[in-house]
Amino acid sequence: MDILFNKETNSFHLFNDLVSYQLSIKDDKYVSHVYWGKAIGGNNAHIDFPLYDRAFSASPHGAKLQNFSMNTLLQEYPGHNNGDYRESALEVTYPDKTFSTQLEYQSHSIINGKPELEGLPHTYINEKSEAKTLKLVLKDTLDYCTIDLYYTIYADYPVVTRSVRVTNNGELPIELNKLLSMSVDFDHSSFDCVQLPGAWGRERDLVRHPIHRGVHKIDSKRGTTSHTYQPFLGLVDPDTTEHTGDVYGFHFVYSGEFLANCEVNEYNQTRVQMGISPEHFKWELNPAETFSSPEVVMSYTDNGLNQFSQDLHSFYQTHLIRGKYQFEERPVLLNNWEGTYFDFTEEKLLDMADKAVDLGVELFVLDDGWFGKRDDDKTSLGDWVVYDKKLPNGLKSLAEKIKAKGLRFGLWFEPEMISEDSDLFRTHPEWVLKANDRSASLGRNQFILDYTQKEVRDYIKERMRAVLNEVPIDYIKWDFNRNMTEIGSQHPSVNDGEVTHRYMLGLYDLLEELTTAYPDILWESCSGGGGRYDPGMLYYMPQTWTSDNTDAVARLEIQTGTSLVLPISSMGSHVSAVPNHQVNRMTSLDMRGDVAMAGNLGYELDPTLLSDSEREKVQEQIVFYKENRKLIQYGSFFRLKSPFDQSSETAWLFVNKDKSEALVFNYLILDKTNMVNTRVKLKGLAPEKRYKLNGQDTLYYGSELMNKGLYIEPPLSDEIEQSSYQVNGDFRSTKIKIKEVIG
Ligand code: DGJ
Repeated sequence: MDILFNKETNSFHLFNDLVSYQLSIKDDKYVSHVYWGKAIGGNNAHIDFPLYDRAFSASPHGAKLQNFSMNTLLQEYPGHNNGDYRESALEVTYPDKTFSTQLEYQSHSIINGKPELEGLPHTYINEKSEAKTLKLVLKDTLDYCTIDLYYTIYADYPVVTRSVRVTNNGELPIELNKLLSMSVDFDHSSFDCVQLPGAWGRERDLVRHPIHRGVHKIDSKRGTTSHTYQPFLGLVDPDTTEHTGDVYGFHFVYSGEFLANCEVNEYNQTRVQMGISPEHFKWELNPAETFSSPEVVMSYTDNGLNQFSQDLHSFYQTHLIRGKYQFEERPVLLNNWEGTYFDFTEEKLLDMADKAVDLGVELFVLDDGWFGKRDDDKTSLGDWVVYDKKLPNGLKSLAEKIKAKGLRFGLWFEPEMISEDSDLFRTHPEWVLKANDRSASLGRNQFILDYTQKEVRDYIKERMRAVLNEVPIDYIKWDFNRNMTEIGSQHPSVNDGEVTHRYMLGLYDLLEELTTAYPDILWESCSGGGGRYDPGMLYYMPQTWTSDNTDAVARLEIQTGTSLVLPISSMGSHVSAVPNHQVNRMTSLDMRGDVAMAGNLGYELDPTLLSDSEREKVQEQIVFYKENRKLIQYGSFFRLKSPFDQSSETAWLFVNKDKSEALVFNYLILDKTNMVNTRVKLKGLAPEKRYKLNGQDTLYYGSELMNKGLYIEPPLSDEIEQSSYQVNGDFRSTKIKIKEVIG
């Protein structure tokens, strides 16, 4: 890995063994894009794209250089209102009310390692040798502000990260109306766009479509990344498959409002950009102040989408996720939510815990409803004191009793919210996040707390610490169950145009403090399931509740989509009762178990209601999972058959690091009459190694399993007799453990 500067061509080459990124300073001024893709050697970066005189594309050099135009130049960080008609990366209003940003290169430095991005989640290094950073200093021609562009290349990953810092050089405030974290131009538009749109209960559909002339934009104006779009955008070659072809992926390390653009202009050049959404953003930057953008992770591979996912999984595992649980096996949990909802007593919970112990569960999680007067979702958020009607002996006593059974104890909070019917609201209505003198809409009967105010955050911190210091808590689920509306602050010192970002800075500050103060707690992030499942949150909390939809069939799509960009060790996935509470579907317990155990396995049901045979089956599932969870949570993940391919089958594979163990799951959704089984070709094994499949004596070479493949016959499920539904062989799954045979 290195970053080279070529004085003759005024060019930079960032590279490692996997990827190269080249840029050049055109005419000593303009930071131009040269190349990004598979690693190329040497220090020979130079602009070789031909310049043409284009009608209606004006030249800043006038008649002297008529064939040069900002409108056709491949750029790295385009300004605004400067002759480039494509989307800008930066829009500033200056004190004289002008708003043309003409950026010119000033200087650069090459830094060993990676500078900290203070106050924001970011990918990190453990040692300086793991990365190098190029800092380019640009100035507006009128010297109102300095723009620093940061590019970090990692030694062992095909990853470049980018962020931007603006400094006000003048004597008066300037207004940032748009400040994206990165922009890059490609000289062609022969791409498909890959993205992960969704909705509550249907998060992260894997969608792929050709790109077209015009701007394709995905964004969030909801104060959070949201269920609607993942802050991710990919460009792939039209021929790219799971296992072959070019993939360029952009992923935002941020949990607030974002924008991802892909624009094709009249010359079929493609511009991709990512950053904070300008929609609700107007930041007043005072003299000498700086503003730092969040970071974008840019990853490239020529080996298809599956390799792209594996690169990101491993990169996030080693350079984003932190703390005690970074590589630790995640516990099997029982969460009481779908088992009881708000309707529980101490006795009921202890009964459930007894059964949980018997099943092999390791962590008991008490979800919503333990505080204030919370019998439904209309009340008490903000009043983080135990609800004595339900838990008369207190939380501490409950936790101790549960722990005495050999379980760990976990607790739900929704720390960013306030109910209208709460003591907190009655005392502090001014703590509700809303624009002054405007009414605030209710979402799930609640308002959002104004985390731009330190006093508000301090209050929540003090309340949470009071609980955490008294009760022996091993796990916290941090929920967030609505999106922002009427964005603003009632506090006179906060500008409404700064609220969404200041909110995120406040939230990150609180998360940093709490996760540092309680390093042994396993933190799980949640937002009505996966509504804030992004790299920003992963920096603080190593796992996320993937979706409120626990139906096994729906989960095949949700978990496949999620796996495109987020590591398996971060995915909470639970077995729930049937008929499923979200979609009313009956599926077999085998299939529910097999789908849930392809992530962080948990159960979300009332275990006292399980029949003897179901109990035995769950016990077996948990034993199997414990034996294999290291492989699942931290192995390489392969999507062998996709639920998005309109077929009734999905297959996933996990392979460990030294390729001595693998586990393949095959799921059949709807059976077809009179069909023969198809083969599944495995991936990632060592071709020369010999393997055995569980329960069989036959030896297979890795090359055999990968090239010829395996027939997988999904077993009939027990539920066929038991169910009142006619399942007729639908919803069947099987798993095959594969082990290397030595000697
Ligand atoms: C939404 C979460 O996603 C659920 O798992 C549950 O915790 C509820 N909130 C509780 O209100």
